[in-house]
Amino acid sequence: MRRLRFRAAAVAALAVLACLFAFACTSLYCASACGASSCGTEELSGIAALHSGAGWAALPTPPPQRPHPRILLRYMACMGGFNQLYSHVAALTLAAALGADVVLPPALARETYDSKSDPLHRKTETMQWHAAPAESLLDVARIAQAWRQLGINVQPPPQLYVLPADLRTGFLSYPQPAFQPQQVVRLKGVNRKPKEFGVLLGMARAAVRDAVAAALAAGLPPFDTIVLDLPCTLFSLNTDRVLGLTSKVALSLHFSPHLQALADRIVAAVTDGGRRPFNGLHLRLETDALFFHQSQAGQQKAWEAYIEGMRESGFNASLPVYVASGLLTYNSTEQWHQLVDKMRALGLAAEVLHKEKLLRAEELQGLHMEQVAVLDFLVLARAQRVVGLAASTFSTYLREYRALHGIPKATARLVGDTPRWFEHTVALVEDLGEEQSALQRLRQWQLDPQLAPLQIPAGQNLVA
Ligand SMILES: *[C@@H]1O[C@H](CO)[C@@H](O)[C@H](O)[C@H]1NC(C)=O
Ligand SMILES: *[C@@H]1O[C@H](CO)[C@@H](O)[C@H](O)[C@H]1NC(C)=O
Repeated sequence: MRRLRFRAAAVAALAVLACLFAFACTSLYCASACGASSCGTEELSGIAALHSGAGWAALPTPPPQRPHPRILLRYMACMGGFNQLYSHVAALTLAAALGADVVLPPALARETYDSKSDPLHRKTETMQWHAAPAESLLDVARIAQAWRQLGINVQPPPQLYVLPADLRTGFLSYPQPAFQPQQVVRLKGVNRKPKEFGVLLGMARAAVRDAVAAALAAGLPPFDTIVLDLPCTLFSLNTDRVLGLTSKVALSLHFSPHLQALADRIVAAVTDGGRRPFNGLHLRLETDALFFHQSQAGQQKAWEAYIEGMRESGFNASLPVYVASGLLTYNSTEQWHQLVDKMRALGLAAEVLHKEKLLRAEELQGLHMEQVAVLDFLVLARAQRVVGLAASTFSTYLREYRALHGIPKATARLVGDTPRWFEHTVALVEDLGEEQSALQRLRQWQLDPQLAPLQIPAGQNLVA
């Protein structure tokens, strides 16, 4: 009887969810958020507004009902910086619906871009990664502040943790005497197995329910908290049908203020203090991207696709181009100069700019590889037009991040083939075309019923 009621409640909640997603446009996006005066200069100034601190964090919202037992979600974020961002989006989207508290994982950083490794298929030697503080990429305090509005406690990783041997499928472990083994459940079959949101949510809830039932059957007193451990959540969620949720989650993922400040300085230099726009290129031709391009011949083809992309996007000798690339990070200077000379000869750029030219060497030397990538990303976020690579999550996240901040997706052209597993997993925000500026509304996090956690009844109810 109780179980029936519980199921009925869950079905009703999912129906409400589905309904809200269908109407997300009318309730959230479509009303224009800015007057005629403030919308004209969107391309250069559109992003400035979001760093002003005003926004959804300032909104008073009632905390959602806390489910009992409380769920604590822990997970891994793996591979390059923007694969990690996608991992965060998937895990936090799940946490929002579960009403779960969250322990963020540490950041990972590759040792170099000059590595012939295929991290997805591991056909060649494995790339080397090291752990770094979560704060090296993200503004953890600001993220936590934002989630507190939802009654959700987001914590940085504890000082002590052990990375799993397999970064994609293994689990982070924490010496955690506070939890009994029966309190901790591990959800497998997540990494690179994209699922519809409702399915992933159902798996998580079933795992928690089973843990509660098992503890009860073993005669243990009811737990206050169940720890839900996930491996790396990269490509675990089909985002494309829950963009109302993922766009809000992505908005909460603020980048490190230090990287933001460095990017601001680069943008000031590139735009001559905001007086001229610039185009942006994400040139993903480093050695470690060879697996994207299959071989050297593939790399040549990719370069040709980049040139065509720049032409089609209207890059010409009237604007400078900022190039985001790891080529100079490992001193592939010869290749770099060839490419840059070609761009100039083809009349695609007035001048070609890059971070090594605009910051002091010691400012870059202190950064790990993923921080350098985020720095480039934050510059390209403010370009008038960008050309990137369809097979790169840096490029897809860039298109989504720009769209999230009011810049039409059509200003980002991604060249080359789209990997099959990107099809439903990389969009984070609705494509509203020229109406994209209306999205600035999203800077205000509204506590919609769709974000209220689905109540997990107390243990006894679940096994009745
Ligand atoms: C460069 O392209 C822009 C549009 O992207 C155009 O308005 C401008 O006239 C072009 N300039 C040259 C010199 O071709
Ligand atoms: C970088 O490469 C250039 C030639 O391509 C070489 O002259 C220089 O010594 C290299 N620098 C380092 C630090 O390896």
